[in-house]
Amino acid sequence: MSSNPERSVTRILTPDPAGLDEAAGLLSRGELVAIPTETVYGLAGDARNDRAVARIFEAKGRPRFNPLIVHLPEAEAALALARADDTARRITAAFWPGPLTLVLPLRPGAGLSPLVTAGLDSVALRVPAHPVAQGVLRAFGGPLAAPSANPSGGVSPTRAEHVLAGLDGRIAAVVDGGPCAVGVESTILSLAGPAGGRPRLLRPGGLALEAIEAALGERVEVPGADPARPEAPGQLASHYAPAAALRLGVTVPTPGEDWLGFGPGAAGAAMNLSPAGDLVEAAANLFHYLRAIDGGPGRVIAVSPVPEEGLGRAINDRLRRAAAPR
Ligand code: TXA
Ligand code: MG
Repeated sequence: MSSNPERSVTRILTPDPAGLDEAAGLLSRGELVAIPTETVYGLAGDARNDRAVARIFEAKGRPRFNPLIVHLPEAEAALALARADDTARRITAAFWPGPLTLVLPLRPGAGLSPLVTAGLDSVALRVPAHPVAQGVLRAFGGPLAAPSANPSGGVSPTRAEHVLAGLDGRIAAVVDGGPCAVGVESTILSLAGPAGGRPRLLRPGGLALEAIEAALGERVEVPGADPARPEAPGQLASHYAPAAALRLGVTVPTPGEDWLGFGPGAAGAAMNLSPAGDLVEAAANLFHYLRAIDGGPGRVIAVSPVPEEGLGRAINDRLRRAAAPR
């Protein structure tokens, strides 16, 4: 091996044309580059290159069975990798580019590394809206596999410094595009399930379920999450976990706990995801605040209740996983 990911120096690239070209060049040589998307930072590698994809798993310490999302700059290029029916075209016309990932039947001969799909006959596709992600994808000119740019099981990164905190020295570069606007991962919708391609929610995320249902004019199935048999392995019980323990739904914290508040009722909280009770603002702050308030092993983060609607679904999903037994 010519380069050892344990020892390489991670460069910080600027989000200008020179930085984007540099990122694309590294990716073309099979290196890994973390890039900002509007949801979280992704750890990008060439989705057609087995070595690059294997390096993603290695850098994250990620279980091999967990497939990756493939990113493209526009819908036509993304849908060309899959079998897209009418529903897929309607959904992507409404929400791409944006914080939505669609799981579709993989088109045989699509040219993706089998490691990306973990051998499944479906593929997860996403067209991110972030101008830096768009710029890197266009400069690179191919599909990029990109999980969240954090060690497996940890809190997802919403700033370049979060990426470096977890992966410095293990990846070639990070493009610093500032904080991510949405702040939680994309919503994953499957049209590749056993139910004849009817839409099913695999992961609540940055696009509200209500918006998808309104655009489709039909209900989206929300499968009962069976933690023993994760359908999207992001449904593994413990995930997004800080070092401290979490206690959820807390209106009155116990002395000694670190209170992560939400809404005007949490005036005494150490940090407040959104003092006004705005779920979009709370999602954008979630991972950054979880890192900032994390006092380490032995400490307890007490979190205010968050309503189970809109982006609150994604926030509660991530909080429940962060609170799950490790
Ligand atoms: O916002 C996001 O989605 C970010 C940014 C970087 O795009 N990416 C992200 O990737 O969250 P990751 O790897 O952390 O989560 C990908 C999820 C996993 O739960 C994985 O199991 C699921 O997508 N997934 C990927 N391919 C799948 C497939 N063919 N069928 C079902 N689930 C799939
Ligand atoms: Mg992740």
